Amino acid sequence: MPKCNPSPNIVEMKEITKSFPVGGQQVQVLKGLSLTVEPGEFVAITGPSGNGKSTALNMITGIDRPTNGEVYVNGCPLHRMSENDLAVWRGENLGIIFQFFQLLPALSLLQNVALPMELAGKYPRKERSPRALHLLDQVGLADQARKLPAMVSGGQQQRAAIARALANDPPLLVADEPTGNLDLATAESVFELFQGLVAQGKTILMVTHDNELAGRIPRIIEIRNGLIACDTFAAPEIFTAHPLSKAAVEVRR
Ligand SMILES: Nc1ncnc2c1ncn2[C@@H]1O[C@H](COP(=O)(O)OP(=O)(O)OP(=O)(O)O)[C@@H](O)[C@H]1O
Ligand SMILES: [Mg+2]
Repeated sequence: MPKCNPSPNIVEMKEITKSFPVGGQQVQVLKGLSLTVEPGEFVAITGPSGNGKSTALNMITGIDRPTNGEVYVNGCPLHRMSENDLAVWRGENLGIIFQFFQLLPALSLLQNVALPMELAGKYPRKERSPRALHLLDQVGLADQARKLPAMVSGGQQQRAAIARALANDPPLLVADEPTGNLDLATAESVFELFQGLVAQGKTILMVTHDNELAGRIPRIIEIRNGLIACDTFAAPEIFTAHPLSKAAVEVRR
């Protein structure tokens, strides 16, 4: 496992390119994208469909690798890690939330939330179930804990997926259109959960097509044609970041 060095940034992408083979040719989707995110920031990633938002997130989660360039999360060089190292690292350091929840259908909500703890072995066995229940309680689902995903609503499944993302208490949450499949009221409740997590000190990167939601996030990054077209910081009065984070006290860059 390559060495992780302390860094003031939780995410650091340096000149990332990513090409995919399409019909015998390499198509470049990310074209030298650079980005830094500090701990405690809440960042919206927006931009037209097919312009590289999910591809960029996949570099940060280590789900995919850059063709060229460097990506560090908490000072760890993901671009130099093996698949095995990445899987172990991801389980402990990152929470990932997808548009279609991706809960395991044969497991109860409680078992879904406990699973990342079992895989990482971070918490002692007897603490896992109570901790999973506590996390479900935090997202308002304690009374649904024994149900299978198919027995609860989409919004409840997404809230369970958020609880699962928090299983190993990662500092960084990455969400790809987490409200894309939810109605307005349910999307709002999921968004408020995110705001609460940022207030607790988590860092969140969230891809969204919802301009109204993006407008309530302190920093908006627009990805166009594989590059950052725009990186905007909101006025401090609407910052929802942790009051002690640099993001909350500095209007900058
Ligand atoms: N594994 C792959 N193989 C080939 N092409 C890919 C692959 N993954 C992504 N692409 C292409 O890369 C481009 C960017 O895709 P990406 O999923 O990052 O877009 P996006 O901005 O997330 O779009 P959306 O808003 O629709 O989710 C698209 O043209 C897509 O077809
Ligand atoms: Mg996408």
